[in-house]
Amino acid sequence: MEENFEQTIFLEFELESHDFVQAGEASSEIRQRLKKLGFASDVVRRAAIAAYEAEMNVIIHARRGWLKVEITPRQILIIAQDEGPGIDNIHQAMQEGFTTAPDMIRELGFGAGMGLPNIRRFADEFNISSCTGEGTSLEIIIYASEG
Ligand SMILES: Nc1ncnc2c1ncn2[C@@H]1O[C@H](COP(=O)(O)OP(=O)(O)OP(=O)(O)O)[C@@H](O)[C@H]1O
Ligand SMILES: [Mg+2]
Repeated sequence: MEENFEQTIFLEFELESHDFVQAGEASSEIRQRLKKLGFASDVVRRAAIAAYEAEMNVIIHARRGWLKVEITPRQILIIAQDEGPGIDNIHQAMQEGFTTAPDMIRELGFGAGMGLPNIRRFADEFNISSCTGEGTSLEIIIYASEG
């Protein structure tokens, strides 16, 4: 770690449905912050990809939401919470290639159905919970040190 920090760092971003102008800015800021703090490039990459996919899912599939990040020298915790339709069948949503994205979203290059599977793949700990008609929340932890 290049720069020592002792206190937990908290970041918070608000996300709006279909805001493709701001899209990706929250995760990009998270990536830059982690890089500056001196985390290993693999850790930065995994956290940034997970944050990006969580951010895009809120923008594409929900009404609005928040990305909250808690950074300590040991780990990066990313919480994505939204108000939206929720996910009826989480098992199905976790399958590679499953998507409900409409054509308009697919034309923008999203909707491969790879976001959630990739988040799970890149996370050291991953939790998803959802309430139909209310919203979805994800908890993603990336460990900063190997093992
Ligand atoms: N925050 C969310 N709110 C409601 N539904 C969601 C949310 N996140 C994911 N989903 C549902 O789970 C499906 C799979 O999500 P996933 O991120 O894997 O793929 P995608 O967003 O459709 O495509 P990609 O992430 O590859 O652009 C979505 O198509 C959607 O039906
Ligand atoms: Mg997605």
